[in-house]
Amino acid sequence: MRLTRAHSVEDLRRAARRRMPKAVFDVVDGGAGDEQTLRWNRESFARIPLRPRALVDVRHVDTTTTVLGDEVSMPLLLAPCSFARMCHSDAEAGVARAAGRAGTVYVVPGGAGERPEVVIRSATGPLWYQLYLKPDRAANAELLDRVEAAGYRTLCVTIDTAIKPYREKDLRNGVTLPVTPSPRLALAGLAHPLWSRDFLFGTGGAGPDLFAARRAYRNFTDAIMHIQSVTAEEIRWLRDRWPGPLVLKGVLRGEEVAEMVELGVDGIVVSNHGGRNLDGVPATVDALPEVVEAAAGRAEVLLDGGVRRGTDVVRALALGAKAVLVGRPYMFGLAAGGEPGVDRTLELLHNEIIRAMSLVGARSVKEIDRSLIGAPQLLADARGGAT
Ligand SMILES: Cc1cc2nc3c(=O)[nH]c(=O)nc-3n(C[C@H](O)[C@H](O)[C@H](O)COP(=O)(O)O)c2cc1C
Repeated sequence: MRLTRAHSVEDLRRAARRRMPKAVFDVVDGGAGDEQTLRWNRESFARIPLRPRALVDVRHVDTTTTVLGDEVSMPLLLAPCSFARMCHSDAEAGVARAAGRAGTVYVVPGGAGERPEVVIRSATGPLWYQLYLKPDRAANAELLDRVEAAGYRTLCVTIDTAIKPYREKDLRNGVTLPVTPSPRLALAGLAHPLWSRDFLFGTGGAGPDLFAARRAYRNFTDAIMHIQSVTAEEIRWLRDRWPGPLVLKGVLRGEEVAEMVELGVDGIVVSNHGGRNLDGVPATVDALPEVVEAAAGRAEVLLDGGVRRGTDVVRALALGAKAVLVGRPYMFGLAAGGEPGVDRTLELLHNEIIRAMSLVGARSVKEIDRSLIGAPQLLADARGGAT
């Protein structure tokens, strides 16, 4: 598919679905349990009506902002997502280059297929590093030293993944963690030759690399198979060690925010891991207001989960988020067309943010305030249906 024919994130999702074996697409697209939270992330945005401001001259709309000291071209960052190498051989390096071109931040996942030192070589702008804590403190210390020495300034610790992910869809598709090759997966690969050729031999910007898939698999397994609970004690330890901004990802309750601020946390990501961990937790946009209120300006609050449109970005910012992150949208772009597919995702979303800001009458990110949204409507109302 020609990327210029994709006009929305949903178009890129469809293109990704066509190019990838079902089992691999589902790893990216799917959620936990009955996928209730996955659905709510989208539905809750749809329930929030926009209230455009009239009589505003919007010939010049400025989408730039700062997030924890980093200047970005728009209030939209790239969330940490493992499995980039399964989408396309351009992998994390391609995502980092695309983020740099778009002028925004990429949060490099702890479960990346490449080492953090290698990914940052492709960066032209700031990258953050997402950490999965391991039970072995010495191993954590060694990793943090490497990450810091490589040039990452901001550390994002994921706190909602105390145990290994468990997704029925993946199990039904024969995908287990760690992934074990099987005749079924091999057959699926044969039915998708373009994807398989790229996966096995690498056709991306980095050129052929016969060992990249295996290395990606090892790095990912190493990060994800030994995750552990993150407690206040670990955050204290991290705060002492990490000199730059410290962000916690995976917060859904306001009452914990004061303690986090006292521990020296600079940023909080309201996140339910894109509905991939605990099914049944609220949509992030519903949890956002209590976290913003509790933070009371002492920590920057970000949000991810279900952001697919520029209008979603405006809604989240109107409710107090400093910026949003997207996960699946750029992974779909990557799967659909490698690095240029990530460019296309960011181009589409940036244009949507400009259009949404223009039409609600916000000339700058600062002008996006609570007055731009109305009270959330009941689901039936929002869908235009009776009862
Ligand atoms: C394929 C995939 C892999 C992910 N891997 C990680 C990860 O390694 N670390 C992490 O903190 N979050 C991970 N996430 C969660 C994202 O960072 C983010 O919270 C989520 O994707 C946001 O929801 P969205 O996909 O609806 O934008 C992953 C999400 C996806 C879809």
